[in-house]
Amino acid sequence: MRLQHDSLAFQMLGAAAAVRGVNEGTALPQAIEDVATHLRLDRVRDAATRGAVQDLAYRTVRQFGTTRALVTELVTRPPGALVDSLLAVALALLLEGEEGDGSKVGRGGYSDFTVVDQAVSAAASEPKTAHARGLVNAVLRRFLRERQPLMQAVNQDEEARYNLPSWWLAQLRKAYPDQWTTLADSVNARPPMTLRVNTRRTSVPQYLTELANAGMAGTAVGDQAVRLVRAFPVSQVPGFAEGDVSVQDAGAQLAAPLCELSDGMRVLDACAAPGGKTGHLLELADIDVTAVESDAQRAARIHDNLARLGQRANVIVGDASRPQDWWDGQPFDRILADVPCSASGIVRRHPDIRWLRRETDIARLVNEQRRIVSQLWPLLKPGGILVYVTCSIFPTEGEEQALWFGAQLPDAIRLQAPGQLLPGTKAPETASLPTGSPLGLPTDHDGFYYARFQKRA
Ligand SMILES: C[S@@+](CC[C@H](N)C(=O)[O-])C[C@H]1O[C@@H](n2cnc3c(N)ncnc32)[C@H](O)[C@@H]1O
Repeated sequence: MRLQHDSLAFQMLGAAAAVRGVNEGTALPQAIEDVATHLRLDRVRDAATRGAVQDLAYRTVRQFGTTRALVTELVTRPPGALVDSLLAVALALLLEGEEGDGSKVGRGGYSDFTVVDQAVSAAASEPKTAHARGLVNAVLRRFLRERQPLMQAVNQDEEARYNLPSWWLAQLRKAYPDQWTTLADSVNARPPMTLRVNTRRTSVPQYLTELANAGMAGTAVGDQAVRLVRAFPVSQVPGFAEGDVSVQDAGAQLAAPLCELSDGMRVLDACAAPGGKTGHLLELADIDVTAVESDAQRAARIHDNLARLGQRANVIVGDASRPQDWWDGQPFDRILADVPCSASGIVRRHPDIRWLRRETDIARLVNEQRRIVSQLWPLLKPGGILVYVTCSIFPTEGEEQALWFGAQLPDAIRLQAPGQLLPGTKAPETASLPTGSPLGLPTDHDGFYYARFQKRA
């Protein structure tokens, strides 16, 4: 049976294939790309189908803890990886709907009946899953009949309740004994779409007027940060193509100002791709930027980003922890070390990360962060400043690292910095900015950690 591309069944099957990819260790954007290629979803003609597949896959991955627990509860013999994922997609949709008699329309805009019917059609349409069409029907119907006791049973398990791996929850509980449930609950919040206004070309008040003229609403959430009330594709965002604005979380927008730049400085942006912060550095002052990135494919995106902003940097594909391979021997006034990390502060934007990371990754990342910063430190001029950034909320990658750097880096003076920013809509309570700083703290941002060190002159 061939399915229409605009049918929910086709889109559920596409999403199930992407979700299976994540289960097998592929990052969600790549898994969606693989599915789109496989299904020959031509980008223009099938943009809506691709968008729907992506939306379903993201919704499912956000609720992976719950849907996996439900499948385990409802299925006695494993039905195969694709059926498993199809059930997860259908259950995620049903979970978003209100509990009820089967006729209520859930948040996906589909009635319970439609979701079950389309999941069965999806299973029937594909040779790998056709054998399980009866099972899909029975499992989903049972879920609807016994929803309340089933949810009570699976919610006994923390991983199902919070949609976070138990080792991750243990890290949160240890680091934030009073706040961990709020933090855990926040991971599935819809992230805001935030823009960085390019102050070389416009200003926040001017840009807010431009937005209003285009019929879009926005609010200022940081010195250069504007949050759109509703997300739009960048192609519809006024001034995006011209470089008036870039998409960047308000918390990430603190990195470049914390470098305290002035014209003529030599700046190293280590771990630079896709170049969000590189562009910001170049917007703030007339500086000479070297951007180092180890992943060649990602490094290419730095050029694309800078071209849109009309900026240039010396982009090097290299390992930041091996400057002997790429450094020309000229010291830097500033180093921005936006090191690889767990990404535990940006889970609401990247819901797959929590399922792809392993607990053992954290110790490996901590070592890598230490190696990178220790190797970059000698490249800094006396009097120069290094800004350490992670998009993590685990103290092992944040404050504990800063203490280690303070003790290990020769001639390092710790400067004031925001420290830990927890994801949320309020201005951070614990964070503070350098005394006399003209910077304001953002009010709606992802989780970041910032520390700064100056080399004794
Ligand atoms: C947090 S992201 C950087 C985001 C970027 N600064 C921005 O604002 O757009 C970390 C980047 O570091 C890169 N990376 C990881 N290990 C590296 C290393 N040893 N040397 C250089 N780059 C590295 C990753 O490929 C990734 O692109």
